Amino acid sequence: MKTGGMIFQQLFEPVSSTFTYLLGCQETGEAVLVDPVMPAWQRDLKAVNTLGLRLVMTIDTHIHADHITAASVLKREAGSRIAIPEPDALPCTDVPMREGVPLQVGGVRIDPMHTPGHTDNHFALVAGDRVFTGDALLIDGCGRTDFQSGDARALYDSVRGKLFSLPGETLVYPAHDYNGRRVSSIAQEKQRNPRLGGDRTVEEFVELMDNLGLPYPKFIDYAVPGNRRCGECPPDLPAHLREYCEEMAQSPQG
Ligand SMILES: [Fe+2]
Repeated sequence: MKTGGMIFQQLFEPVSSTFTYLLGCQETGEAVLVDPVMPAWQRDLKAVNTLGLRLVMTIDTHIHADHITAASVLKREAGSRIAIPEPDALPCTDVPMREGVPLQVGGVRIDPMHTPGHTDNHFALVAGDRVFTGDALLIDGCGRTDFQSGDARALYDSVRGKLFSLPGETLVYPAHDYNGRRVSSIAQEKQRNPRLGGDRTVEEFVELMDNLGLPYPKFIDYAVPGNRRCGECPPDLPAHLREYCEEMAQSPQG
């Protein structure tokens, strides 16, 4: 799909149910991948190349706990630069991402928006009429706040104070969906999001997030250290977790 000079694709990685977004500039042929995932890096790079584009940057919205980023392998294979939230201060960062400093990929402008709460250094990304909300705002949901310096009050402010101040028609593209949905809008989430929409108060939200009773994230102990090195698979990965690092099977179309 091409919109106003921007080439756009939404890609899905089934092991962690993560969406990766390809944004490209028609004029210069430069492209970026937002939240690329290790098992899918070859498919995603192929998608960039098939469109006649050149991968110049990867962006991670935050340090992920549920998958390992493909930022480093893509840097090695395609020469892309690694954009990471500046406050994370990772030594492997090429482009420290901060609010107020747009990332420019050819004619495509991406505005990082600091949206803490899921993690303290989480960023959403605004590009034209779209917002890539990472794990701050999901369709009919939000990321959990019980790990990685998460903070339900901060998330409430990030979503209702910042993301919900975007124009209602802004399309919401989350980092995950576990139910087959792909896109929403700010207006829809403001009205209908069962956790953060309508007249939900901060006290109600904190109470709700404190009582989700979610299980311990099964990949976090490997994912976070691996992502703090911009995407390294640990050598001691147990067999039942190897699918997080092995190349995914590609569909005939892929
Ligand atoms: Fe996350």
